[in-house]
Amino acid sequence: MFTSRPIGFVNSPYKSTGDIPKGLGAKHEADGVLAILPEFEAGLTDIEGFSHLIVIWEFDRAHGFELLGTPPSDNRAHGVFATRSPRRPNPIGLTIVELRRREGVELHVRGVDMLDGTPILDIKPLLSIIPEEKLRRGWLAEAEARKPGD
Ligand SMILES: C[S@@+](CC[C@H](N)C(=O)[O-])C[C@H]1O[C@@H](n2cnc3c(N)ncnc32)[C@H](O)[C@@H]1O
Repeated sequence: MFTSRPIGFVNSPYKSTGDIPKGLGAKHEADGVLAILPEFEAGLTDIEGFSHLIVIWEFDRAHGFELLGTPPSDNRAHGVFATRSPRRPNPIGLTIVELRRREGVELHVRGVDMLDGTPILDIKPLLSIIPEEKLRRGWLAEAEARKPGD
């Protein structure tokens, strides 16, 4: 067991869940800001080299969980671990966002689907999934290029 703590909070245009696009074909293209707490600023060093980030966050306004639920994109129930439902045993959300720019402790991103004020638990660079021609792998690509013997 461990106790999580926020490393920052999301500034999002979405003030209530009804504002967030849902269901089949829903697109998440909203701009937002990941406002990181000053004590964690050094942890952002070199993040600018990455085009996309994985944001791990807390569904802080979800209540309880259900193991079977009907998502907005279907009329049949599915197991919680086969969906992205907010009502999960551990209320952890994961969103891939595009990093537009960094301003100090503020990461300006596109693609938020979280409510305003959502606590951020972690951020990691996206290293795959995105088509190769669009993906920048920042310092990792440079380190790979420097690897002795290659
Ligand atoms: C289907 S979940 C997917 C979230 C994330 N992309 C994931 O896969 O974990 C997105 C929905 O979670 C809800 N939501 C967003 N932020 C939330 C928060 N802080 N607390 C509770 N529910 C939230 C909204 O209803 C939103 O439409």
